[in-house]
Amino acid sequence: MAQAEPTSNLFDRRDRYEALMDVMRTRMTNRAFAQHDIPNEHFELILEAARHGPSGANCQPWHYIVVRDPEQKAVIGDLFVEEQQTRAKLKMGFPTPNYTGMRTAPGFIVVAADFRFIRAFPVLSDDSAQAKMYEENAERILLQSVAASTMSAHLAAAALGYAVWWVTAIGQARIQTVVKPMLDVPEALSLVDIMCFGPPRKPSYKRWKKQLHQIMNWDRFHPANFMTDEQVDLWIKEARHKVMYKDESKID
Ligand SMILES: Cc1cc2nc3c(=O)[nH]c(=O)nc-3n(C[C@H](O)[C@H](O)[C@H](O)COP(=O)(O)O)c2cc1C
Repeated sequence: MAQAEPTSNLFDRRDRYEALMDVMRTRMTNRAFAQHDIPNEHFELILEAARHGPSGANCQPWHYIVVRDPEQKAVIGDLFVEEQQTRAKLKMGFPTPNYTGMRTAPGFIVVAADFRFIRAFPVLSDDSAQAKMYEENAERILLQSVAASTMSAHLAAAALGYAVWWVTAIGQARIQTVVKPMLDVPEALSLVDIMCFGPPRKPSYKRWKKQLHQIMNWDRFHPANFMTDEQVDLWIKEARHKVMYKDESKID
């Protein structure tokens, strides 16, 4: 009779962990793509990964619309370029990325969320402050669920060798009102982000990531990991643009 594998080995599959980490480490954002025909099978492989995402109450409140028509991509891409210009006029001080590369993305998937499913989470149906608190939490549950599924799709695209781009600047009413009817998305759904992917026009670069000890706390929160309000403001002023647009090896 075959010997059962010792349980300790079952939970120490470093080979699988390393294969996964290779994908995790090499998933990198890129904002301009080379022309390339993405086979339909790749879209299916990527969204098959999204399908397995965890979600609150297992309600799977996500829909993915693969956009293949270059004209539709151009319409959506132009809306983001407009958004870029609006932000410049508003003088937000945010280093908004250049969205002209969106229309070049051979892989283009619009992500929709069904917020009606917040009713599937613990909520109260009255006007009380408590009901509001539960509803806010339910919205967070829903968004985290969609993000968990979307991240799986990004990792699958990275595993296939593509550069990825997660675009969330889609909440604006104008973008919703133009894109929803164009893609026949029912009014009840919300467009939450767009996943672009493809071979990068220029090689991707690895952005700065915090060290493990800066995010990991054993047994209690480590005070050294807490930033004061002033430190957060300083980070936004002096570090944000670098971590967004520079290779991690060039961050001082
Ligand atoms: C929730 C979320 C929202 C993001 N929104 C945008 C966005 O609207 N526009 C954009 O150009 N990049 C966006 N990004 C990409 C980030 O800028 C990028 O992930 C970050 O700079 C780290 O780089 P990396 O993905 O190469 O690790 C977003 C990423 C996440 C996870």
